[in-house]
Amino acid sequence: MDLQTKALRQLKNRREGFSLEQPFYIDQDYFKLDMETIWYRDWLFMGHDCEIPRAGNYFTVQVGDYPVVIVRGKDQVIRAFHNTCRHRGHRVCTQDKGASAKLVCPYHQWTYDLDGSLVFARQMGENFDKADFGLKTVHCETVAGYIFICLANEAPDFAPVRASIEPYMAPHRLSEAKVAHKTTIIEKGNWKLVWENNRECYHCAGNHPELCRTYPEAPTATGVQGAKDDPFIAEHWARCEAAGLPSEFKMDPSGQFRVARMPLIQDAESYTMSGKRAVKKPLSGDVQISHIGTMLLFHYPTTWNHILGDHAISFRVLPISAEETAVTTTWLVHKDAVEGVDYDLDELTHVWTMTNDQDRSIVEENAFGIRSPAYEPGPYSVDHEGGVMQFVEWYSNFMIERLQGDKARLSAVA
Ligand code: FES
Ligand SMILES: [Fe+2]
Repeated sequence: MDLQTKALRQLKNRREGFSLEQPFYIDQDYFKLDMETIWYRDWLFMGHDCEIPRAGNYFTVQVGDYPVVIVRGKDQVIRAFHNTCRHRGHRVCTQDKGASAKLVCPYHQWTYDLDGSLVFARQMGENFDKADFGLKTVHCETVAGYIFICLANEAPDFAPVRASIEPYMAPHRLSEAKVAHKTTIIEKGNWKLVWENNRECYHCAGNHPELCRTYPEAPTATGVQGAKDDPFIAEHWARCEAAGLPSEFKMDPSGQFRVARMPLIQDAESYTMSGKRAVKKPLSGDVQISHIGTMLLFHYPTTWNHILGDHAISFRVLPISAEETAVTTTWLVHKDAVEGVDYDLDELTHVWTMTNDQDRSIVEENAFGIRSPAYEPGPYSVDHEGGVMQFVEWYSNFMIERLQGDKARLSAVA
């Protein structure tokens, strides 16, 4: 039985409400299947427009086998390109980020414009046509301060993502924010374990003393069901919506992304040890009320987010191997907020720095135990782990649909 058939059979026969079988978390071939079936075909959050505010600003990223560069053009349009030179394949941009009027390959100095076209290639002969050797483009969309790319030849429709995210995010004006801090940690566990851990707060009370001071662990707030029946949440939505802030829980029918605004505990306004704002200057002048809680966005497979009144935090998940995942956390504040005057960086970042490290340790221990031959799929808590069940269901359904589709296509060709 080939791998695709085996994985398909395991997903179809999986026990609902239980974790996945071992190879989905540790096997290199299953990992490759994830990359080819999901990561190389879906929209992926990469970073924020405010990270590249001026023409020529760029950052690079590695998605599986694909090096990508994301750059702002002279026309202010943000574009993404395969970061592989059309001469002999050297990476054109070798730094994490930078600023440059043109993109110059360090190997033989082939030079590309910010729109990817090749403008200079030394002594390539008379018959050489530069127009044939521009950088290959990667689909790229920006919405409300978020940059998404898609590596597929044909990208899925981005319109539903935009329609869902834009009204919720726009009032927070993240495209005009600035990065106060950014970290990347490597978690020694499969990307799906990182997500499973993120999608529940069953573990919060026992593991996150700092976060639990302000973030509610109630499954209605953290999960995917029951929010609208919770009077505390319903009242929060009514108050925020009256102030022009879309808030109600909204999940795409595919299960791939969700937006919802949730209250924090008691009087808390921010993820600080005191619950008080970490940044004096509000994140957005368009938000007229205080105590707006946290605007939650997830989009599988790359990002979950918290947008508060005084700052925002985005998380980006990138798989490195079957058992290694990079998690990048970015703290955004108002562009005019000054460190040391409007905020103290340690205070701003303390709670999530601790929480991230606690989550890293959980994911790594989870992966450790799953490696045991004695591991078998275990039951999720229906009360507390509805979000995890939803994630696993999304993953399984997406994989099944695509693996079956690919099989059908292949057999049609054969
Ligand atoms: S490989 Fe880029 S210029 Fe030669
Ligand atoms: Fe956690």
